[in-house]
Amino acid sequence: MDLGLKKKSVIVTGGGSNIGRGIVLAFAQEGANITLADIDEQQANTVAELALKKGASGVQVVKTDVTDLGQVKAMVAAADEKFGGVDVLVNNVGWDDLMFFTQTTPELWQKLIAVNFVSNLNCTHSVLEVMLKNKTKGSIVSLSSDASRQGEPKEAVYGALKAGINSLMKSLARENGRFGIRCNAVCPGVTIPEEDEDVGSQSMWAKKDSMFTEEQFAAIANALPLKKVGKPTDLANAVLFMSSNVASGHVTGQVLSVSGGYSMIG
Ligand SMILES: NC(=O)c1ccc[n+]([C@@H]2O[C@H](COP(=O)([O-])OP(=O)(O)OC[C@H]3O[C@@H](n4cnc5c(N)ncnc54)[C@H](O)[C@@H]3O)[C@@H](O)[C@H]2O)c1
Repeated sequence: MDLGLKKKSVIVTGGGSNIGRGIVLAFAQEGANITLADIDEQQANTVAELALKKGASGVQVVKTDVTDLGQVKAMVAAADEKFGGVDVLVNNVGWDDLMFFTQTTPELWQKLIAVNFVSNLNCTHSVLEVMLKNKTKGSIVSLSSDASRQGEPKEAVYGALKAGINSLMKSLARENGRFGIRCNAVCPGVTIPEEDEDVGSQSMWAKKDSMFTEEQFAAIANALPLKKVGKPTDLANAVLFMSSNVASGHVTGQVLSVSGGYSMIG
């Protein structure tokens, strides 16, 4: 199926690592023009080289801290200028440090709010300006989490912020549907890197053992209906679907779990 993404201008934030890396490579195989915005320039450059080999029409790395509105505006302007607009924004940056709420500090809350939520406001606001200016029938896809739907111990603040992202996408879907702009959220469950080199230095998986032990990964997989944890390509395929006006042109304001059946929302 031709998803109609060839030469489309796609921004992927946090595209250097794990799920974001998988998303960049999936868009590359569709022949898209990709702007990879990541704070880890070295890792982003490695993924950009691979994306060109896999068939991307063009790739530019723009080193960006997505918590900084000025840097985000410059990155979005670079995508608009180099690739003639922005058709797709994938808000992929996110971060968590697992601990019980009573162990967290106000400093940690501020970091979680900045990386998981303010980053999304910065990127979505800046891209909507460009899509509306160019009259682009675009797609905005935000990586949320099943922690936003289920409630999750040790992820109270992160889950609440991801629930905020689900709500943001729904409201923006209502505001911008009249312009042909679609906004959706995709919720991973536990999704682990396939190789150690698939994660960047800033990745929450850089200290893989600090997330879960091998035994815990096995227990998580066993508790899921599909009996396996997620791979970056599982999420990348869902993001391609939500990005493509051919595949999901009548889908907006939705929250899609891609988590092996962890959550089942009717
Ligand atoms: N992997 C999972 O199990 C899982 C589960 C649920 C939800 N998610 C969500 O999926 C998304 C991707 O997760 P992942 O596991 O691939 O993450 P990851 O930590 O491996 O990668 C995040 C990427 O974002 C970049 N980044 C971090 N802070 C940044 C900043 N301020 N500005 C720009 N770039 C920055 C990092 O350099 C890295 O390349 C996140 O939104 C995460 O919350 C992941």
